[in-house]
Formats: sequence, C-alpha cells, structure tokens
Amino acid sequence: MATARFFSLPDSIKQLSDSGALSSDPTHYACRDPDAPSDVDPTLEGQIPTIDLSVLTQGDPARRSQMVRQLGRACEEWGFFVVVNHGVPETVREAMLAAAQGFFDLEEEEKAEHSGKHVMDPIRYGTSFNSKVDDVGYWRDYFKIVVHPAFHSPAKPLGFREALGQYAACTRVVGMELLRGMWESLELDEDYMNNALDLDACFQVCAVNLYPPCPQPELAMGLPPHSDHSLLTLLHQNGVDGLQVKHGSKWVHVKPPPNSFLVNTGDQMEIVTNGRYKSVLHRAVINGRSTRMSIATVVAPSLDTVVEPVAQLVSPERPAMYRGVRYREYLEHQQRNKLWEKSALDHLRV
Ligand code: OGA
Ligand code: NI
Repeated sequence: MATARFFSLPDSIKQLSDSGALSSDPTHYACRDPDAPSDVDPTLEGQIPTIDLSVLTQGDPARRSQMVRQLGRACEEWGFFVVVNHGVPETVREAMLAAAQGFFDLEEEEKAEHSGKHVMDPIRYGTSFNSKVDDVGYWRDYFKIVVHPAFHSPAKPLGFREALGQYAACTRVVGMELLRGMWESLELDEDYMNNALDLDACFQVCAVNLYPPCPQPELAMGLPPHSDHSLLTLLHQNGVDGLQVKHGSKWVHVKPPPNSFLVNTGDQMEIVTNGRYKSVLHRAVINGRSTRMSIATVVAPSLDTVVEPVAQLVSPERPAMYRGVRYREYLEHQQRNKLWEKSALDHLRV
C-alpha cells in the first residue's frame, strides 16, 4: 500500500462511487477514528439562531432593531445562523441545484477542461480540497466559479449559465442585506464599511460540493474542520444533511428548515471586526446512502482590498488583533495550503 503522501486521487469521487467497484475506502481517505466517542451534541441543534431577513428589509423600526440585535448575538455567540424569508425564489434555488447536478453528470473529459487549474482561475473543477497538498483525500468533488465582479460560467451543460446568473444575483442581494445588518449591529457606518471593503466590486464565488455515498462514512470526511476565507458564506443543500458547525467544544449537526440558507461568518469578518465576530469552524460529514450536494456562496471584499481591523473596533483595551492583508493574497494562501481549522487566519494574528 502506498503511504499517504504518494497516493494519487481518482478523477472524481463520483466516478469512484458510480463504478460500484469499491468495497471499502482506500486507506488514504481514512482520517477519522471510528471508535472515538462522538463529539456531536444533539441538544444544541434547537439553539441555532434564526434570522428572518424580511424583518431586516421590511420590518417596522422596532422589530427591525430587534432583529439586528438578534443578528449581532448570532454572530457573536455562534458565527452561524439560519436565514428564512430571504426572498430568493425556490425556483431559482432548485434550478441552481439541477444545473449543478447537470455539471457533475457531464462526462469526465468534459469536466476535465476545468481541472488542474491555478487556485485563482475563475472556473475550477476538482476533487478533495487541494490535491497538490492534501495528505488525506476528502470524499468530495467540487467546482468553484467566480461570479462577481466579473461573471463566469462553464459553457455546459445547457442552461447552466442562466441558472447560475440568477442564483448569483439573488444570493448577492441576501449577502449584502446581512452585511448591512451586521455593520449596524456593531454600530458601524454602512457606507463607510461598504467603501472600506469595496463591496460594489465584492468577490463572490459559487462553490458547489458533491459528496457521493461512501462505503465507510465513519472513516472519511467530506471537508475537514475549517473556517471560510470570506466575509460570510451562504449555504444551500439538496435536502441531505452533512454540515456540522463547532459551538463551544462540541459539534452541531445542522438540519436546515425548508427554504432556508445556512450562513456562517468567515475569516475576513473576524479580521475586519477585530475578533468581535469570529469565523466559525465547520466540517462536512458524509453518509453511506445518499449523494449530498451543497452550494456555498462566498461573499468577500474586492480582491484588491487590504482588509484590516476597522478603526472603530480598535482601542487601547482592544488593540488590533490581526495584521492587514490584501484579500487576494489571503485567498491565494488559503487555497494553496492544506485546509485545516483556522491556519490561514492564524498567520495574521498579532
Ligand atoms: C465549504 C463548506 C460545507 C458543506 O464549501 O466551504 O464548508 O456542507 N461546505 O458542504
Ligand atoms: Ni466552508
């Protein structure tokens, strides 16, 4: 058996899973101890905060400020929340899931046109996280498409571009509304923040994850514990659960209500708020029965923004906790290295 460092990955987990030939995980996918006691606390599930976006956008002033406070608490205490009444039509969400499935169903040769790309290429298809540096394989195929400030789309399958275009536009609106609420919850001036982070040119990526059924799900992982490089990430899934978020010392298995988005704060949020709103650790677990698909929409500052703690949140009692860094450099660093906990952010801690 080859040692972990010298294994080669299959073209895709989908192909591996579809082939039916696999009776057990190749050892290089094994990254969990199946005998370890569970670190998931089921009692926390009911405590996940919910944000009603319609109250933020249309609520009367009293309800609205209450929801802003609720959002602030969700960011401070969890870094994770469920968004309901977000206004994105279910048809748009469904069309995106169908289009994404259509992409994964293309022939391997067709998808391969987008594989082996540089981490900053606007369309990237691959498996695991970063197969150049991963020392275990993750049970996941992905494609990532930059949709703003310039919109990109693969030419195939038919209808993909339209579905992605609508989905990207709708989720960007939701992301901006949430950011507005977050600045308000910290008493930061909205225009100032939008300018400081150059949000008119915000960097937005749709990252689609496919987690086929795994013969030994207790051994492998879809994605290891990590934080996102974004300001925030909006996740939508195909009805199969698998996202777990860290809360205190425990993990929470998330079962989203229908028609909701799962939102988590990312590393740029932690930097800009000087640690008030920390990026949350999360991971994706897999199962032995069903294919899971998730669509993560990453909303971030413009690539040329030097992101640093905002002056209003820095004081003698709370000095700047992070060095400023150009977002493009942060992103490249995070995508080029192993995905592990908050290792990319740890580099910037003062
Ligand atoms: C991600 C991610 C979780 C999931 O794409 O960064 O954390 O549930 N995805 O697919
Ligand atoms: Ni993530």
